Amino acid sequence: MVEVLHTRKELAAAREGLTGTVGVVMTMGALHAGHETLLRAARERADHVLVTIFVNPLQFGPNEDFDRYPRTLDSDLEICRRAGVDLVFAPPVSEMYPQGQPTVRLNPGPLGEDLEGLSRPGFFHGVLTVVLKLLQLTRPDLAFFGEKDYQQLTLVRRMVRDLDVPTEIVGVPTVREPDGLALSSRNRYLSAEERRAALSLSAALRAGVAAAERGDDAGAVLAAAHQAFDPGTPDARLDYLVLTDADLEPGPVSGPARLLIAAWVGATRLIDNTALHLA
Ligand code: PAJ
Repeated sequence: MVEVLHTRKELAAAREGLTGTVGVVMTMGALHAGHETLLRAARERADHVLVTIFVNPLQFGPNEDFDRYPRTLDSDLEICRRAGVDLVFAPPVSEMYPQGQPTVRLNPGPLGEDLEGLSRPGFFHGVLTVVLKLLQLTRPDLAFFGEKDYQQLTLVRRMVRDLDVPTEIVGVPTVREPDGLALSSRNRYLSAEERRAALSLSAALRAGVAAAERGDDAGAVLAAAHQAFDPGTPDARLDYLVLTDADLEPGPVSGPARLLIAAWVGATRLIDNTALHLA
């Protein structure tokens, strides 16, 4: 049985009763097989699994999709039940931000202004602020984040390190559709034609990986990825395609590296990334 908690008071009481290790998976709901993999990873590593479901207004820009972000609590709870989740914390906005939107927010540092942060000003201030609040409220031993949002995972790791949060951050590999599309709650916005165009993101990443495996240098890897990005419609456009080291630091790379892509497909913004190894 999944116990569903809506208030911080209920959460505090339930958390108090847990003995053994606690693993937390933070989500905005609209759960899919990608989230489910995080739940199962938590189930394997921790004695108790707690899932948070909260569409965080702080991380949406004024013209973004906060209002129309999918909210599917009943099917989310069914997925949680299947994955052996013990507790779900699904607070209303007033419970998370009783004083209204907080004026004190976490500063993610320079990496927070780059990549996703360039296109979405204030995004990572909002993400890190809610992640730290949820870490304080749930006090987990382990917290699981997907590599799908690699910049988010990297910044959460840095926050926990820099601010002495006693939680181990566990990264979980990206779950994809059989044709390569990374699972995302936003995929449900795509029309059939947009769904086809969206394949150009993972195709670009695959071309980059193939070039790296052939022994190409960073410039050639990036060129191969650019060439493979071909959505076949003027309604799609590339936002960024970059090659960094594994910690998202720019510059010439060799060894473990990361290739990251963001693109608009119609009105939907999609992101994806992959690990690769440069000679
Ligand atoms: P959300 O987009 O719901 O994602 C919740 C978690 O699921 C994140 O750690 C994300 O990286 C992971 N995830 C999403 N799609 C995935 C996929 N295809 N494969 C593997 N993992 C995947 O990320 C957020 O919510 C929010 O920013 C949050 C951290 C909850 C703060 O509000």
